[in-house]
Amino acid sequence: MAEQKTVVLTGASRGIGHATVKRFSAEGWRVLTCSRQPFDDRCPWPGGEENHIQIDLADPSKTVQAIEVIREKLNGRLDALVNNAGISPKGPDGARLSTLDTDLRTWGQVFHVNFFAPVVMARGLQVELVAAKGAIVNVTSIAGGRVHPFAGAAYATSKAALAALTREMAHDFGPLGVRVNAIAPGEVETAILSPGTDKIVDQLPMRRLGQPFEVADAIWFLCSPQSSYISGTEIEVNGAQHV
Ligand SMILES: NC(=O)c1ccc[n+]([C@@H]2O[C@H](COP(=O)([O-])OP(=O)(O)OC[C@H]3O[C@@H](n4cnc5c(N)ncnc54)[C@H](OP(=O)(O)O)[C@@H]3O)[C@@H](O)[C@H]2O)c1
Repeated sequence: MAEQKTVVLTGASRGIGHATVKRFSAEGWRVLTCSRQPFDDRCPWPGGEENHIQIDLADPSKTVQAIEVIREKLNGRLDALVNNAGISPKGPDGARLSTLDTDLRTWGQVFHVNFFAPVVMARGLQVELVAAKGAIVNVTSIAGGRVHPFAGAAYATSKAALAALTREMAHDFGPLGVRVNAIAPGEVETAILSPGTDKIVDQLPMRRLGQPFEVADAIWFLCSPQSSYISGTEIEVNGAQHV
């Protein structure tokens, strides 16, 4: 019987990450989940608690420590790393934080979680990813390519940087046999959305929000053999919002 494949997934506790856990589990993969929350007993899959790593990606030293915990759980191979955790801080009353009113601490937190953590995770798990000829998927955003009415400046620039990082990583990891891609969601129905998103929905070509499972399906594709010659690309998952 073929060896069970393993994915490490950050931001697994809610939204797109949670849907991605379900997708990979349904395909028979072992899913190592990472988030700030401890393991939730309501998660029904076998080995869930053993496969959960509590990690605060805003804290670089804790992230490096957690990578060692992950490596101990891996048996030397990692088939996929999905850098999905992300934060999108808002001002008072949910206001958009612009370049004029985002404090430096907030910029730093956003960049640690959304941008530095993906490269630190990938480098920390490099040996295992190379051993499995694995795939990395970074979750960017439509806000990385244009000013967005709700997503703040720190968030948008962190996602633009993550898209650039995806290209750099594809270049560097390619010779090692590891593919690196990104998916850029538009408006997906999760807790990260801002009040008022319904107004954007009326403008979207498909006239509806995306569902987390629709993003999880794209992530799954980029980790599967069906995408074996795709690397260094960013797939828009937004119902044609970008046109
Ligand atoms: N929903 C959308 O419309 C949309 C659009 C474009 C891009 N995205 C991107 O898609 C990804 C997932 O978003 P989502 O909508 O599913 O968001 P979400 O529902 O807010 O979930 C975010 C996840 O990230 C984790 N997380 C947040 N801060 C963390 C930290 N410091 N350390 C570790 N984990 C942390 C959270 O877990 P804990 O709270 O347990 O730590 C949670 O599991 C993000 O990168 C987001 O930017 C979403």
